Amino acid sequence: ARIDKGGHKHFMAKEIAEQPMVIGEAVRHYLSADGNSVELPEDFDFAGIDRLTMVACGTAFYACLTAKYWFEQLAQLPVEVDIASEFRYREPPIAPRTVALFVSQSGETADTLAALRYCDGKADKILSVVNVPESSIARESDLALPILAGVEVGVASTKAFTCQLTVLLMLALKAAEQRGTLTADEIADKLSALRAVPATLNTALEQEGAIAAAARKLSEASDVLFLGRGLMYPLALEGALKLKEISYIHAEAYASGELKHGPIALIDKTMPVVVMAPYDALYGKTVSNMQEVLARGGKVVLITDAAGAAETEDSAWQTIVMPEIDPVLTPVLYAVPAQLLAYHTAVAKGTDVDQPRNLAKSVTVE
Ligand code: G6P
Repeated sequence: ARIDKGGHKHFMAKEIAEQPMVIGEAVRHYLSADGNSVELPEDFDFAGIDRLTMVACGTAFYACLTAKYWFEQLAQLPVEVDIASEFRYREPPIAPRTVALFVSQSGETADTLAALRYCDGKADKILSVVNVPESSIARESDLALPILAGVEVGVASTKAFTCQLTVLLMLALKAAEQRGTLTADEIADKLSALRAVPATLNTALEQEGAIAAAARKLSEASDVLFLGRGLMYPLALEGALKLKEISYIHAEAYASGELKHGPIALIDKTMPVVVMAPYDALYGKTVSNMQEVLARGGKVVLITDAAGAAETEDSAWQTIVMPEIDPVLTPVLYAVPAQLLAYHTAVAKGTDVDQPRNLAKSVTVE
């Protein structure tokens, strides 16, 4: 079938807008008939393993970093995450009872495929989370889990990222069930929150106007810092990656707690700081990081929810308010403003959003 922009100005805009629909598909695909548990296409046993090694590149690597929090917190499963180009040449020892999990939109990234081949015969099992079921990575895995995002044309990954997160979270819930670390009720509860994600994402998409206004401010900057804690740290990394990929503005991300160990030296009125912080147990700590930025003349774009916004009043340069969501699902929701912020900054700068210079959709050579 011919893929068109469906009335959008760019494929990236279309793919951002499609997320409620494709995430809904992915959730339905892995949900049991009664809706209370996760069903994998084939039996897979997480109870008999001691660790998970996750390997990927680019945006898929940030999906892995997010999933580490989920597998560790929900399923008490130790996780190691690595960049494929590092992993393959470091030739790390693979301990007994290790499962290796590869995440790739295309399923053809050369470094990720080489890392998979390195694990063949060393890891207990090879799993993959892919968008292309016929891909090399899918074919060479013991079990390949499709993310069902549909064709992604924009070079900067958007819907594939949130579908990767969705499938990885469901996999972590399966692991939690098998390892007995969450009760059946707790799992059913998380799954019902997952089913509500498409509606919540639609509400988030309604914030596009406020996000575009913040993006116009960012488009004047030459450097932007992203901060986040916990599940928001990998998302800050992804937000910075999106921004640099398509707007060519230098952006980097730090775990909020690391601000004082270096990047605070850079803060002045010319370098905006994007803070991603839902109102959770760590919010107070994030607010004090924000105050450290404000005290040095820094300008903050705060992405939070209504409770978070109420607490910080008007101290931010601009506040973007997300709907409430189960804390475990914040990465899927907050990906939307991170993507839209990068998108509208690029549009304001007039760069080639779908085909950014020097980048390729799929890197099949080294
Ligand atoms: C390229 C793309 C990125 C993607 C990365 C990994 O750099 O531009 O959007 O995240 O490759 O690709 P994969 O297909 O393995 O997910």
